[in-house]
Amino acid sequence: MVQFPSILEGSPIHLKPPLSRRLHALALQVPAGAKLVDVGTDHGLLPLWLLAQGRIATAIGVDRSAAALAAARRNQLRFGLPLDLQVGVGLVSVQGRDFDCMTMAGMGAEEIITTLAAAPPQLAWVGLQPHRGADVLRTWLHRAGWTIVGEQVVEENGLFHPLFWAIGEPDPVAITGPERSFGRLSLHRDPQTLRRYLEAEHKRCTAPLLLERGGHVQVVLEALKQDISPR
Ligand SMILES: C[S@@+](CC[C@H](N)C(=O)[O-])C[C@H]1O[C@@H](n2cnc3c(N)ncnc32)[C@H](O)[C@@H]1O
Repeated sequence: MVQFPSILEGSPIHLKPPLSRRLHALALQVPAGAKLVDVGTDHGLLPLWLLAQGRIATAIGVDRSAAALAAARRNQLRFGLPLDLQVGVGLVSVQGRDFDCMTMAGMGAEEIITTLAAAPPQLAWVGLQPHRGADVLRTWLHRAGWTIVGEQVVEENGLFHPLFWAIGEPDPVAITGPERSFGRLSLHRDPQTLRRYLEAEHKRCTAPLLLERGGHVQVVLEALKQDISPR
């Protein structure tokens, strides 16, 4: 927590960057001591929160929008934290910089895959919250030599947000259809929220185009009942 002297009373006041439940869940998974780059940082609150907590060594926030970075700059000044801000698409503007972990939240799978496909070999950990295409992203990660090591569904304001984190080592275990759709059950941190998400998906997946996903919902719900992984 950052402490600022209070102008009015001369006593310390406590300020810390506010985080949504979704970003808080992702932030908690970032490895301690990380040299983080947050792509699509927008307001910059995720890396600012981590810096304020003293959980990470360094942080760079990247966004392709100058307007978004201006908001991040205001937050950076407000909280007085050493967040390095860069305009750029994906990791292009931070080539040659020292980072080992990356977060990308609130973007589609295509943006995340395009960024990861051009990532330098030093990138060892990624935390991802795709707002669409989680199944496509899990499949791509598996094929591209990443292992998903944790999964969580976060419920906020009536919406469910799947997020997952991965290390840069190949996963020797094949990925099944239900795991592509909803992640490996044994990796889920919050099975109760996963169950509510699956029940909501069950109602949604009655359209012909969603029948395969609907089948995966049933497999995972059944496995969740038995507390075994859907293999
Ligand atoms: C919906 S906001 C998400 C902000 C924040 N990460 C969050 O989850 O609250 C998406 C942000 O990503 C930026 N963005 C989208 N694609 C990007 C890319 N390929 N490289 C850099 N920034 C990107 C947009 O400009 C926007 O500020």
